[in-house]
Amino acid sequence: DMGGWVGGQTEYVMVPYADFNLLKFPDADQAMEKIKDLTLLSDIFPTGFHGCVTAGVGPGSTVYIAGAGPVGLAAAVSAQLLGAACVIVGDMIEERLAQARSFGCETIDLTQDGDMADKIEVILGEREVDAFVDCVGFEAHACGCNHGKEAPATVLNSAMSLTRAGGQIGIPGLYVTEDPGAADEAAQQGSLSMRFGLGWAKSHSLHTGQCPVMKYHRPLMQAILFGKVNIADAVNVQMITLDEAPKGYA
Ligand SMILES: NC(=O)c1ccc[n+]([C@@H]2O[C@H](COP(=O)([O-])OP(=O)(O)OC[C@H]3O[C@@H](n4cnc5c(N)ncnc54)[C@H](O)[C@@H]3O)[C@@H](O)[C@H]2O)c1
Repeated sequence: DMGGWVGGQTEYVMVPYADFNLLKFPDADQAMEKIKDLTLLSDIFPTGFHGCVTAGVGPGSTVYIAGAGPVGLAAAVSAQLLGAACVIVGDMIEERLAQARSFGCETIDLTQDGDMADKIEVILGEREVDAFVDCVGFEAHACGCNHGKEAPATVLNSAMSLTRAGGQIGIPGLYVTEDPGAADEAAQQGSLSMRFGLGWAKSHSLHTGQCPVMKYHRPLMQAILFGKVNIADAVNVQMITLDEAPKGYA
């Protein structure tokens, strides 16, 4: 549903509306010194940042980031850049959680059983967070003893229960209009079973959709060039050749 543009993971790409949507770096040599960081301006850094902005993250916020993939880690760094007091990242993959801890996040291992609010209370002394960012989307898995099983609505339902009343939920994680391979008929049509009434009762605000990258890429470029953020280290960027891409995906 993204307009039919083909992917960009090739040696050359055709850039639609290039006169409008490319970002010019001020100085080529300076840019090449930080190219690993600047590369992330094309997608995951603005996406993670947008998730935090739409979740209302600001100075002193407590934040839960669901998912420690590239987007989740970029969101965690973004929350720190926006002044969050405490950033908690949840995932089932220990290596990814270790990566989040490497730059100062608290983590929750979702392979372990137990109530999420209890786990948040151990870290914060409170059972809810100010801001919740879903960096997982419809490919979410169940937590605890069922981990590994598909559970497309699980992160959205956690958002309702773990975000404080009046809090905001940013949803950069992808949800689809159709998912033919889903386990049940409703999910095959993109319908998920959510406890929306809880969100209503708590007056939550939700924001989802594709990231408007150009809203953020220039200021985030400046944050990189002026040394305010080390996004490449945080998400563990490694340069590989195109030939090595299949290995990279594996
Ligand atoms: N809105 C946008 O413009 C935009 C841009 C880029 C990516 N995305 C979307 O963002 C999402 C994340 O992208 P990514 O590249 O980091 O994906 P990824 O698959 O690498 O990471 C997702 C992580 O979520 C974890 N996970 C699974 N179930 C979970 C649960 N219940 N709770 C917490 N963590 C759970 C997985 O173990 C995995 O580490 C995807 O849905 C992607 O399509 C959106």
